[in-house]
Amino acid sequence: MMDNNSARKRIAELRTIIEYHNRRYYQQDNPEISDIEYDRLLRELQELEAQHPDDNIASSPTQRVGAAPLARFDQLIHPSPMQSLANAFSPQEILEFDARLMKQADGENISYVAEPKLDGLAVNLIYENGRFVSGATRGDGFTGEDITQNLKTIAALPLQIKENSNRPFPLFIEIRGEVYIETEPFRKLNLRRLEAGEEPFANPRNAAAGSLRQLDPKTTARRPLNIFLYQAGETRGTVFSTHWEVLQALQSWGFPVNPLVRQCSNIQACLDYFENTGKIRASLPYEIDGVVLKVDNLTTQTRLGSVSRNPRWAIACKFPPSQETTVINDILVQVGRTGVLTPVAVMQPVNVGGVMVSRATLHNQDEISKKDIRIGDTVIIQRAGDVIPEVVKVITSRRTGREKIFQMPEQCPECLSQIVRLEGEAAYRCINLSCPAQIKEHIRHFASRGGLDIEGLGEKVSARLFDAGLISNPADLYFLTAEKLLALDRYGEKSVQNLIAAIEKSKNPPLDRFIYALGIRHVGEHIAKILAAELGSLENIMAADIEHLTAINEIGPEIAGSIVRFFQEPQNKEVIGKFRQAGFIPQKTAVIIDSRLRGQSFVFTGTLQGMSRNEAKILVEKSGGAVHTNITNKTSYVVAGSEPGSKLTKAKSLGITVLSEEEFLQLISR
Ligand code: IVH
Repeated sequence: MMDNNSARKRIAELRTIIEYHNRRYYQQDNPEISDIEYDRLLRELQELEAQHPDDNIASSPTQRVGAAPLARFDQLIHPSPMQSLANAFSPQEILEFDARLMKQADGENISYVAEPKLDGLAVNLIYENGRFVSGATRGDGFTGEDITQNLKTIAALPLQIKENSNRPFPLFIEIRGEVYIETEPFRKLNLRRLEAGEEPFANPRNAAAGSLRQLDPKTTARRPLNIFLYQAGETRGTVFSTHWEVLQALQSWGFPVNPLVRQCSNIQACLDYFENTGKIRASLPYEIDGVVLKVDNLTTQTRLGSVSRNPRWAIACKFPPSQETTVINDILVQVGRTGVLTPVAVMQPVNVGGVMVSRATLHNQDEISKKDIRIGDTVIIQRAGDVIPEVVKVITSRRTGREKIFQMPEQCPECLSQIVRLEGEAAYRCINLSCPAQIKEHIRHFASRGGLDIEGLGEKVSARLFDAGLISNPADLYFLTAEKLLALDRYGEKSVQNLIAAIEKSKNPPLDRFIYALGIRHVGEHIAKILAAELGSLENIMAADIEHLTAINEIGPEIAGSIVRFFQEPQNKEVIGKFRQAGFIPQKTAVIIDSRLRGQSFVFTGTLQGMSRNEAKILVEKSGGAVHTNITNKTSYVVAGSEPGSKLTKAKSLGITVLSEEEFLQLISR
């Protein structure tokens, strides 16, 4: 055992470190260490605190669930606190958990409910008289962030509880669950972000958390969020005697409940469940990091109670992480479409959780420096589900002294031009617009599924046509002839015909697809749709200046600047000229957003009866209108709810049309 003095010091240190990681994880959705490392720190602290009790325990991170919610959301107090779970890391620890409970329950056999432990974001939902009224994040366990509007965008979440004749209707119920993103939609979301020049999410959990904690529900609505419900909190109007009944009721009321939940009549059945779930884990469409065991009988649960932040009647059994040790043979540098250089570790191939891995992204130079990764190092790598493998850390004790420090090249590995690091960016870039690596990536993007979707023109063919000197930009595709293609090695008549036909077929693309395909930085599919809907033609988009562009909803100065710069670039102008010359005509897009309220702006004052401000805002924006906080002489309408503020007086003095809530509803549903 540590002496008292060193223990105090270590306790203080651990509390600071854990608080720091809590903030990274809960508030910034940007963790620096793996869950395993975090759990290890927390355990060490718990053990030291048990051996060396002190007076500051109440504010120790072991006593809290997460960090306090961010100030920017309203806060909601949970009717009953949201607790967290103690962990078991081996079958042995699961058996110890059961033994503890048996002792407390005077030898009575305990039966359990076993559930998969989803890796997402815990939420607390409140239903009153069957209607969804509010939802919050866990926050510090007592108070969370009000994310009601964002939760409403999750299609799987019922806003109204379905009646069920077998069970009394709950007059009030708190329901807990996990919001998550499935692996495949997560991969696509990250691809879209990369293509739009945005930072990809580290994992589905961060993507789900980041999406739910958006101030603008419209952003949340575009994210592929899902939910499973697994727990009832405070309940009035209906009585449950087992947790299994809760899960069945939730399902019959229309809530998504994980289909893998099972009743286990003893701990052996739980161990089997843990083992079997581990086996099918890789085939599930979402990530799980373990299973949760809960005592089924609710009276027993109450009798067992909680210790500090964890209920005694439940435990999270964590799977061993998919981590492996291997050696970094080399570090390569890849050049992306926007010129960003990404260092990639080339490793001794190794099987990580059933998948052979030989490459891992090292993200950027800062990451390499922070982890002090060198060529020749023995490292621990980790794979979470389908996420790109990454280096967790270097095993420095295995160093021989022959490892080589990696240095970002000063010249682009593809075109040898000077590499720059733009201010405020972690990335190094090749800014040579005619860099072959960028052009190949650019052509591949142009022809990709989200772009013009030219069949047969994937990564390999794009590179081949470029290397043969047949194309040097996407417009050149429209000047390819069968003759030129046939001259290429190993290119048969049939494939040449198909390719030419596919290219020809892409000549009249919807405008938004074409804009997206151009690969303008910060212009992803969604922004491209908005540009097409608002400006209608390529000519208008090219002619729009920053002021005009920023007046469009969702387009800020950064996106606007990027669009203007793109069309000012002489090389890009030339390419657009070539598209025209080839008879290429983008079609005006039919967009879903209707435009009845285009150009109209609304300001709300007072309280609306039938909807929240945010719901009203979404209604206006769906029809192409805009909502502002302050009245100016450009404001089209002021909508006055009950107890309107000084804005009503101001509207009247400026002669702006004032609408009642009813008139507003009539206007938008016209
Ligand atoms: S029950 C007091 N059930 O794991 C019981 N939690 O470490 C509270 N989680 O905060 C939670 N799947 O975010 C429960 N089937 C499940 C779960 C689950 C995932 C998460 C949840 C919770 C954390 C506890």
